[in-house]
Amino acid sequence: MKSLIKITNKLHRILSEVKYNKIKLPEIIVVGEQSSGKTSVLESIVGIDFLPRGTGIVTRRPLVLELVRSRSTTKQKQNKGPYAKFSHLKNQIFPEFDKVREEIKNQTNQLEKDQISDQPLYLKIFSPKLVDLTLIDLPGLTKNATINQPLSIVETIEKMVLKYISNPKSLLLAIIPATQDIATSDALRICKRVDPNGDRTLGVITKLDLLDKGVDVMPILEGKLFPLKLGYIPVINRSQEDINKGKDIRKAHIDEENFFQNHKVYKLLQNKYGIKYLTERLSSLFIGSIQQNVPSLVESLNRELKITKSKLKSLGTPPNGSNKSSLLSSIISEFSTKYTDLIEGRGLELEQSM
Ligand code: GDP
Ligand code: NA
Repeated sequence: MKSLIKITNKLHRILSEVKYNKIKLPEIIVVGEQSSGKTSVLESIVGIDFLPRGTGIVTRRPLVLELVRSRSTTKQKQNKGPYAKFSHLKNQIFPEFDKVREEIKNQTNQLEKDQISDQPLYLKIFSPKLVDLTLIDLPGLTKNATINQPLSIVETIEKMVLKYISNPKSLLLAIIPATQDIATSDALRICKRVDPNGDRTLGVITKLDLLDKGVDVMPILEGKLFPLKLGYIPVINRSQEDINKGKDIRKAHIDEENFFQNHKVYKLLQNKYGIKYLTERLSSLFIGSIQQNVPSLVESLNRELKITKSKLKSLGTPPNGSNKSSLLSSIISEFSTKYTDLIEGRGLELEQSM
């Protein structure tokens, strides 16, 4: 399964590079309004601080975040701990996550001020503590442009989010702060447009710690307000004060666990809360989605492969063997072989994850 995830990710990157959008791949897309807690949820899943934070529109282009559970390699024994790589800096390894944040900022600042781009940035994070998971972070939805921003930015972001979440094979992670009336949630509203029955939307409720004593979100969690087939998971992230004081994520995870376990109402949820549960849930949904979608995927890939090959043939000998379309066709073949192996029960050897 791991290598199937890996190849799905590879395909994702290449199809996007060659701007090929006839084939849709399974993916998890994070959707939320600005300040809903999107950045916090992502960092908490990864367990590392690495994303730029701030007010206004911080995420101005999609970030494809590929988490890879790595087994320790020689390289890792040298520098222990997790590390990251960007696809646009192939040979550079980032063991320091402050540098990762800087690079994301640099790549964002290359865009003109206040501009939004739909060209994704690809970041891989390797650590033995991660589960294999790929998440796509999009610019936060916003109701109002700030003084310096063109009004159209509100619309541009909404259009981009819609484009991504329209992929029927994508899972939508809708981030909804408990402090907001769920009826006014832009994240839910936009997800509903492409997934009216809530078949592929998972709700994440943040900021429960900020509710008044005695107020809880049980009606939402129990699906009494806006039912989603995949349900809702409540989480607690670090507050702004926690972040200012440098509270680390591990401590935040412990506090989150304590909050739920000691809460009169939420403890009845029997551990179906918190970042750890969310991560496990996402992982199994992601794998399930790959398994469910791969048969038709292999079919369309093979069809495309045939067409591409005969096109290539009619063009004569390609000028060089390492161009993108031949890379694509070799990945497609690899993908079909691996998948065939998997369904025929021959199993897959676990590869080194690099
Ligand atoms: P984003 O704009 O959606 O990416 O939101 P951020 O993750 O940057 O969070 C916005 C603000 O809300 C930050 O100051 C966070 O510290 C704070 N925040 C996010 N989640 C929670 C939470 O569960 N509890 C509390 N108290 N604050 C949170
Ligand atoms: Na943010």
